[in-house]
Amino acid sequence: THIVHIAVEMAPIAKVGGLGDVVTSLSRAVQDLGHNVDIILPKYDCMNLSNVKDFHFHQSFGWGGTEVKVWFGKVEGLSVYFLEPHNGMFSVGCIYGRNDGDRFGFFCHAALEFLFQSGSCPDILHCHDWSSAPVAWLFKEHYRHDGLSNARVVFTIHNLEYGVHHIGKAMTHADKATTVSPTYSKEVSGNPAISPHLFKFHGILNGIDLDIWDPFNDNFIPVSYTSENVVEGKKAAKEALQQRFGLRKSDLPLVGIITRLTVQKGIHLIKHAIGRTLDRNGQVVLLGSAPDPRIQNDFVNLANQVHSSHADRVRLCLTYDEPLSHLIYAGADFILVPSLFEPCGLTQLIAMRYGSIPVVRKTGGLCDTVFDVDNDKQRAHAQDLEPNGFSFDGADPSGLDYALNRAISAWFDGREWFNSLCKRVMEQDWSWNRPALEYMELYHIARK
Ligand code: ADP
Ligand code: GLC
Repeated sequence: THIVHIAVEMAPIAKVGGLGDVVTSLSRAVQDLGHNVDIILPKYDCMNLSNVKDFHFHQSFGWGGTEVKVWFGKVEGLSVYFLEPHNGMFSVGCIYGRNDGDRFGFFCHAALEFLFQSGSCPDILHCHDWSSAPVAWLFKEHYRHDGLSNARVVFTIHNLEYGVHHIGKAMTHADKATTVSPTYSKEVSGNPAISPHLFKFHGILNGIDLDIWDPFNDNFIPVSYTSENVVEGKKAAKEALQQRFGLRKSDLPLVGIITRLTVQKGIHLIKHAIGRTLDRNGQVVLLGSAPDPRIQNDFVNLANQVHSSHADRVRLCLTYDEPLSHLIYAGADFILVPSLFEPCGLTQLIAMRYGSIPVVRKTGGLCDTVFDVDNDKQRAHAQDLEPNGFSFDGADPSGLDYALNRAISAWFDGREWFNSLCKRVMEQDWSWNRPALEYMELYHIARK
């Protein structure tokens, strides 16, 4: 099967959040199953091309009165075509933030035109979120009769919060649609953009790429580890983290938070958790990037406060930093994800891969992947899993306290039990092995 992803993010060269991870890791998993996968991306000026192998000019074509240059290169073993319109619309700023609707609309149309003009015959056009949703209707309006006629359109919703109008329109034109976890698919099923299309809508859980997130082979952590030496590996990573930020080097429970700082991620709960962890004699390292300057300022103020009151136990890094994220995943005891809603969430899955225990709010994909050690035994067993974390309902601080208090107490009171939990979560399989087969099945049905 020949699958072409048309997307505006791709890890590691153009990533803002999980969408970028998924485009890369789903593609790699499907390619590993023996299928032919290509990716079409805008060529952003901000992209780090040192991560692109064999980068070269491929061809150019004219469309909409503009010359579009196509560059080719390999990213994580995947073939990627980069579109660079002569009008320079992707050369200023970075991925989002400037006339995005117009720019991405142009990109989607140019991507289809490129496939058409180069005589490509893909079986599946896979587009993602509002930003490449136009592929679905542009294809049906302009290209379904020509050389591309064999193609079927699969549309994946990663987040219904953004561009719901585009999403509704794509839902109409796509042959199949998915979202990134079964629980989120239920949560959004009543949304008017989705409800008329439930017959072609599926929830397929995201996975993570075990080669990209691998504590046994990770340049950003001090000691390689597997579940066999998880205690030593995590101890070394925690010490490196404490050293880097001048935190007290004693063995205290360390809560890590790695997130875009947006309303979705439960800002008030994150703030509350920082205070609560300090009260419980724990340490906190937060790595957070806030696209909204008001939220950024708010956290800068909070950082000033807590860095002076608890210099040896807390550090808030208000930036995007991929290498540091690896060290936090490895060095933390807990990764907190108190999202108000979460279509899937990758941080809790990466956390488990590094033997960190997720503490999460029960919503969307967090509900499908984290099973509370005290309350979800049956639910876990129904999935052939053992419980793997701490979770809470509700959106008020008392819910969060309920989960965080139990987590921190378990750390202080039962280290042997806690260490065996770390080992156990590392051994759970949150890879793409199963979900990639579900996508293949869906592609297959779409083509019937
Ligand atoms: P979302 O896509 O909603 O941001 P996900 O949990 O699906 O949430 O994916 C987030 C991805 O982005 C993960 O790979 C996470 O490690 C990464 N990430 C989030 N914030 C940062 C940050 N400030 N620095 C580095 N990586 C980050
Ligand atoms: C979105 C969602 C997140 C999901 C990611 C990848 O950004 O917010 O929950 O994991 O996309 O699908």
